[in-house]
Amino acid sequence: MKEKINRLFDEIRAWAPASKEDVEALRIQYLSKKGVITELFADFKQVSAEEKRELGKMLNDLKNAAQDKLNELKSQFDVAKESESLDLTRSASAVHLGTRHPLTLVKNEIIEIFSRLGFTVAEGPEIEDDWHVFGALNFPPEHPARDMQDTFFIEKAPDILLRTHTSSVQSHVMTTQKPPIRVLCPGRVYRNEAISYRAHCFFHQVEGLYIDKNVSFADLKQALLYFAKEIFGEDTRIRLRPSYFPFTEPSAEMDISCNICGGKGCNFCKHTGWVEILGCGMVDPNVLEACGIDSKVYSGYAFGMGVERITNLKYRVKDLRMFSENDLRFLNQFESTL
Ligand code: PHE
Repeated sequence: MKEKINRLFDEIRAWAPASKEDVEALRIQYLSKKGVITELFADFKQVSAEEKRELGKMLNDLKNAAQDKLNELKSQFDVAKESESLDLTRSASAVHLGTRHPLTLVKNEIIEIFSRLGFTVAEGPEIEDDWHVFGALNFPPEHPARDMQDTFFIEKAPDILLRTHTSSVQSHVMTTQKPPIRVLCPGRVYRNEAISYRAHCFFHQVEGLYIDKNVSFADLKQALLYFAKEIFGEDTRIRLRPSYFPFTEPSAEMDISCNICGGKGCNFCKHTGWVEILGCGMVDPNVLEACGIDSKVYSGYAFGMGVERITNLKYRVKDLRMFSENDLRFLNQFESTL
């Protein structure tokens, strides 16, 4: 029996099947119910007790060796088959490209237009301290203007809060850079407002700041007229209405001729022919001084707009909440590879 087992070890070592079918044939020949190795186990029962220990181990080793070798051969043929079925000439399957969010598309367009006028992008934190959001921007403590922007406070004393406008980034730029300064500050802002189709507790802004020697209100108006025509079309007209912001003097709000009715009057513009799109003004000298810029030498203008509002005007999105719900039926309508 010992010799037989040794012979079988040799046979197993010499196995050289040519196909997966050959591997199966070997399995049947050696390990099936009537296979040679299985039969040896039957013979083993007749062996004397002294021989059993040694032979039992040999038999088990033989069986394991046969099983291991079969498994190995089988997987070799599986791999070979897989590579045979690889068709390297097949065209690649289409990769589904995502789409840009409409707010991102419009933000990018605003940045692109102002970049032609030399503006570069500056970004800053959404969690801010009181000084950058209000203090530096001429909001004295207890100034009622702070009520204009319902603030989410994170910590009181020292006040840490969610920025209510990206003018806070302008405070950072003015304190860390020297004029001439020409920056755009895009980003998300937060205000404690009840959520409805026309208001949300967060939204997006792009604000701009230009500081240099001899910057005038005429420069501001010209830049904004250029922007309005570029984004809403050549026929767009603008008008500036006097307004108030603590950080600009004089201040204005800018309307564009309603791009839905062309200025004739419709429901969208409440039959006035005009829609408000941004706030702007000449940077208040107090702001320049608070940020270490000499207001006798330099002047500047600033403006700020809501990206949601511009997007609504361009794409007529009726409900502001759509922008943050991530409904693919909505988002897929803004297919773009830009
Ligand atoms: N920061 C103002 C706001 O959030 C917008 C603004 C910016 C107005 C710059 C004037 C000048 O409402």
